[in-house]
Amino acid sequence: MSDTPILSAPEKPQIPIGFVIFGVTGDLTRRKLIPALYQLAVADQIPEDLHIIGFARRDWDDETMQAKMRAGVLEFARRKPVDDAVLDRLLGSMRYVRGSFDDPEAFARLHTLLDDIKAENRLFYLATPPSAYSAIIQNIGASDMASCPSGWVRVVIEKPYGHDLASALELDAVVHKVFAEEQVYRIDHYLGKETVQNILVFRFANGIFEPLWNRNYIGCVQITVAETVGVGTRAGYYESVGVMRDMFQNHILQLLTLTAMEAPVTFNADAVRDEKLKVLRALPPLQGAKARENTLRAQYSAGKVAGQDALGYKDEQGVAKDSDTETFLAARLEIDSWRWAGVPFFVRSGKRMPQRVTEIAIQFKQVPLPLFGWRNLAGDAPNQLILNIQPEEGITLTFGAKQPGPVNQISPVEMHFSYDETFGGSPPEAYERLLLDAMNGDATLFTRSDEVQEAWRFTTDILDAWEEEPIKKLPTYAAGTWGPASMDEFLQRHDQQWRKI
Ligand code: BG6
Repeated sequence: MSDTPILSAPEKPQIPIGFVIFGVTGDLTRRKLIPALYQLAVADQIPEDLHIIGFARRDWDDETMQAKMRAGVLEFARRKPVDDAVLDRLLGSMRYVRGSFDDPEAFARLHTLLDDIKAENRLFYLATPPSAYSAIIQNIGASDMASCPSGWVRVVIEKPYGHDLASALELDAVVHKVFAEEQVYRIDHYLGKETVQNILVFRFANGIFEPLWNRNYIGCVQITVAETVGVGTRAGYYESVGVMRDMFQNHILQLLTLTAMEAPVTFNADAVRDEKLKVLRALPPLQGAKARENTLRAQYSAGKVAGQDALGYKDEQGVAKDSDTETFLAARLEIDSWRWAGVPFFVRSGKRMPQRVTEIAIQFKQVPLPLFGWRNLAGDAPNQLILNIQPEEGITLTFGAKQPGPVNQISPVEMHFSYDETFGGSPPEAYERLLLDAMNGDATLFTRSDEVQEAWRFTTDILDAWEEEPIKKLPTYAAGTWGPASMDEFLQRHDQQWRKI
């Protein structure tokens, strides 16, 4: 057994680094990447000679890029007020290369710049629409930038990684022509969330939960990823993905693997990912009628979220009036393994839900003999362990307690751990951890090629089944509700009920 601590403290990355962002003019860079780099700089976790190079088509120069990124940090930095000295230093390192993603000359200019600033270690970050990925990767290869004799070269690829299994395989083929798998860092930002990382710590650094973590004691697992936001300005993207490709194939399946995986033999990238992969491989395929029976999809109609009127999906800007894109999904999954055989995993995710909440609820089995008629009193199963991923990060254990008094009246009560109360302050943003890990060469929190393929294999079967027998009228749910009317019935069929949040 290795003696590596389960979460080793990230070190300062090796220097000097050329951090190249393709698609630097987009929202992701301004809202997430640069504010995360700024926050790392405040914490003195990135080297001073980190050179940030933006690459995009827009008619910007170094000064424009610096001004835009300054505005991004001022608006989106996690901790304010912003430290001007740190920000100025970060901005001072920024350079802009103007070019189109299929222009070899622009890539040659980028290469020259990286050589000029002596960026011996290179991180290429693809923050563009996925349609540009292949051209960028091929041009990195063609311009001889995929390796560097004096340092490392890595590529970070944003989601969506493919649109289905076939396109993910095609993309992988392009990627692997240029990069070795060890150089590839596929982002799923849920893995960078503190509370998601804590799933493994909770399970494998504590002795008391793991013995119960199996089919003998767990009756069902419910994973909820609910958002209050609608499609916003992203209809162009969302119309072609829906919640299945946008949330299920990646974030939800990742939460599932971390909840269900076996303990890795050691805590390194491959050992952890090997175990996650086994979970994905143990999902019995949902195909044809079985897929349709075990999934429920719907679309939001007009309603109210947090007291505010919300448009129906079809009335959102950029959405087709006859769109049948699903904005809500519930599914029943199984895992065919010794640990989980017979335990249903219910997942649900949707936009325009009443509350923003991501949680994993482990429902333990009822006592063998219900002496106190508990179930009627409490509604839910009495013992639930809830991993609150966001926004109130923490862990809650529910159980029954006797109410004081002469009769055996039982109440559901909670033991609760809150990140905020215990550790104070806001936890780091997912991108802070992920960018640092990518610079440090730790791929544990990034998805590996075989893992992504397996997730797509499972998801594509369901998408195919939906296409085989298109739904005539997609069920709807009013914005601000927990899903369509058939939602409860979907679970009752399996003698379960959704946890009330
Ligand atoms: C993204 C999806 O991956 O995750 C978005 O594309 C979604 O549609 C977002 O809103 C949710 O992320 P978070 O961190 O806010 O839960």
